[in-house]
Amino acid sequence: MYVELKNINKTFGDYKASDNVNFGIEKGKLIGLLGPSGSGKTTILRMIAGLENPDSGEIVIDGKVVNDIPASKRGIGFVFQNYALFRYMTVFDNIAFGLKIQKKSKKFIKERVNELVKLIGLEGLEKRYPSQLSGGQKQRVAFARALAPNPNLLLLDEPFAAIDAKVRQELRSWLKDMIERLGVTSIFVTHDQSEAIEVADEIIITNKGRIEQIGSPIDIYQHPDTAFSASF
Ligand SMILES: Nc1ncnc2c1ncn2[C@@H]1O[C@H](COP(=O)(O)OP(=O)(O)OP(=O)(O)O)[C@@H](O)[C@H]1O
Ligand SMILES: [Mg+2]
Repeated sequence: MYVELKNINKTFGDYKASDNVNFGIEKGKLIGLLGPSGSGKTTILRMIAGLENPDSGEIVIDGKVVNDIPASKRGIGFVFQNYALFRYMTVFDNIAFGLKIQKKSKKFIKERVNELVKLIGLEGLEKRYPSQLSGGQKQRVAFARALAPNPNLLLLDEPFAAIDAKVRQELRSWLKDMIERLGVTSIFVTHDQSEAIEVADEIIITNKGRIEQIGSPIDIYQHPDTAFSASF
């Protein structure tokens, strides 16, 4: 397993956001983390990314326990729920951000950003600011920014939540293609069942901080383990 969560617990005040969470993810897979609002999906991503610490349990990435490794050293790319682009930076500078932090050379940054701009199909828009882009274009830039430093693991927290239905449909298949082509292990959070079924190799269903079921989209659809999975 490339990523493993072992007996993870996390409490906010007296609310259990993660209740003995256990799962493993194979390298190169695209996992859908599916569950209703408040079921603990973002909390799980934030703990994997190192933006939040579990109260107990271990997070293992590529065979190493990473609990004490800071977020910046985990080699993880993160795309957030609402476009979190830097408003005062151009498309080019947004994508270059992580590379500048890594102190890559100007030449390297230029080449890498150009490659990514091509990949996301936004050639010619490098000098635009986020306010001059559509919602779908912004999320593609966010995706490119997360990919720029070559992460080992990509976390996407409802990346299309703020985008209207038609564009969302297009972006879904675009994202699935992209991730398959790049072969980067990814976790995709959604509360939309059809989105999870269409996008994911494997689905993890969360409910009230617990994992309800793990399986392929077809498995879960045909053999729900619990009443919750069935109804959801
Ligand atoms: N920093 C925090 N402080 C206090 N409570 C928190 C904090 N972060 C999350 N919670 C609580 O933990 C629970 C799980 O939150 P989380 O954001 O993980 O849910 P989610 O599944 O991502 O929901 P959504 O689909 O609405 O994004 C919620 O009840 C939330 O209010
Ligand atoms: Mg969330």
